Amino acid sequence: MAQEIELKRGLRDVYLDTTKSSNVIGDIGRLIYRGYDIHDLAEHSTFEETVYLLIHSQLPTRKQLDAFDAQLRAARALPVPILEIIDKIKTAHPMDVLRTTVSALSTFTDDTDDTSHDAALRKGIELTAKAPSIVAAHHRIRTNQPVIDPDLSLNHAGNFLYMLLGEKPDEDTNRLMDKDFIVHLDHGSNASSFAARVTASTMADIHACVVSGIATLKGPLHGGAAEGVMKMALEIGDESNVEAYLGQRRANRERIMGFGHAVYKAEDPRARHLREGSRLLAEKAGDPKWFSILSKVEEQMRPYAERGICVNVDFWSGSVYFLLGIPEDLFVSIFALARIPGYVVQVLEQQERNILIRPLMQYTGAMDLEYVPIDQRG
Ligand code: SDX
Repeated sequence: MAQEIELKRGLRDVYLDTTKSSNVIGDIGRLIYRGYDIHDLAEHSTFEETVYLLIHSQLPTRKQLDAFDAQLRAARALPVPILEIIDKIKTAHPMDVLRTTVSALSTFTDDTDDTSHDAALRKGIELTAKAPSIVAAHHRIRTNQPVIDPDLSLNHAGNFLYMLLGEKPDEDTNRLMDKDFIVHLDHGSNASSFAARVTASTMADIHACVVSGIATLKGPLHGGAAEGVMKMALEIGDESNVEAYLGQRRANRERIMGFGHAVYKAEDPRARHLREGSRLLAEKAGDPKWFSILSKVEEQMRPYAERGICVNVDFWSGSVYFLLGIPEDLFVSIFALARIPGYVVQVLEQQERNILIRPLMQYTGAMDLEYVPIDQRG
């Protein structure tokens, strides 16, 4: 009697394990990190404090936070050979450069294969600190500008913008980048964190797990959507074109980037923080164009919300980065900078009580064919 098989393509609605890191409540659009609501953390916390929370399961004391922050700042610098590798591959997509250099960084530690908690955590914190330096150095090298050394007086977000754009951001801009990093940090078993977990479940090292995450995040259906949203806004060009543009895309059954989510069937709670950031930046720059185009898109897409296709985190992040003067092909890399510590936290959780992740596939191919020697195959 053939076993009754229930296929769950895309593993949708399948719970593979328990987690205490992040809770994505899809039907009502809530996100919780270690018990704290994302709105509280986005409003009151910092990237450094929230990473500490995710790693240690509790908010730090001032002393603990200062020590953790110092550990991150001390690890920002890149070995010279890494800069040489970046120079050799500078024409590649920024995510390919990030993925390649994270892989190369595994050869700059003498405990690459040490998967103990302490070693994995130490290396994961170093990657969290170095990833912004990699993305910034690559952009400087590919645009023939001098690489800027990390400024240890700046926080994580401010130092990234300084190394990338060559000037120290003002308080509001720094705060907005910091908030963007917070809301992108961790998000349950999204495709790239799941990829990192699958790699972790084989007891591979933290560099290998983070490379899996970065490689997976790049896809346009996942981390690459913010680039697609800005490309859409540039193609629309003016608020008056929004209705016709969307009509055409939908007539071609094309997806509207920045909308829909495999879990959220209500508004993605992270979107509001980036919508507000985009509004503030547009106001400050005296350039309301992009904010008004995207607001019009959001308004025109309202009927889709009834089908659970709502705005997601990527819809507004692209316009924030664009207004900060960051080129579109760097948008997904910025997502990766925030998500790398999230991969680290999930890898530690997976390996703490590991089980090899090994689902089944239902075979529907041919069976029991007779092997015919090649000279008898006609
Ligand atoms: C992220 O999972 C995570 O947590 C990811 C993330 C994280 O923090 O890690 O939140 C980050 O990846 C956010 C999502 C960014 N991606 C995009 O914005 C790309 C556009 N969105 C989609 O491609 C889509 O919404 C998915 C892939 C994100 C989710 O799709 P689902 O839930 O699997 O739904 P589906 O692909 O099965 O589509 C169901 C229906 C389809 O209609 P029919 O073809 O059956 O008629 O909804 C439609 C889809 O066409 N639909 C859309 C749409 N998304 C789904 N129609 C128009 N525009 C869209 N964006």
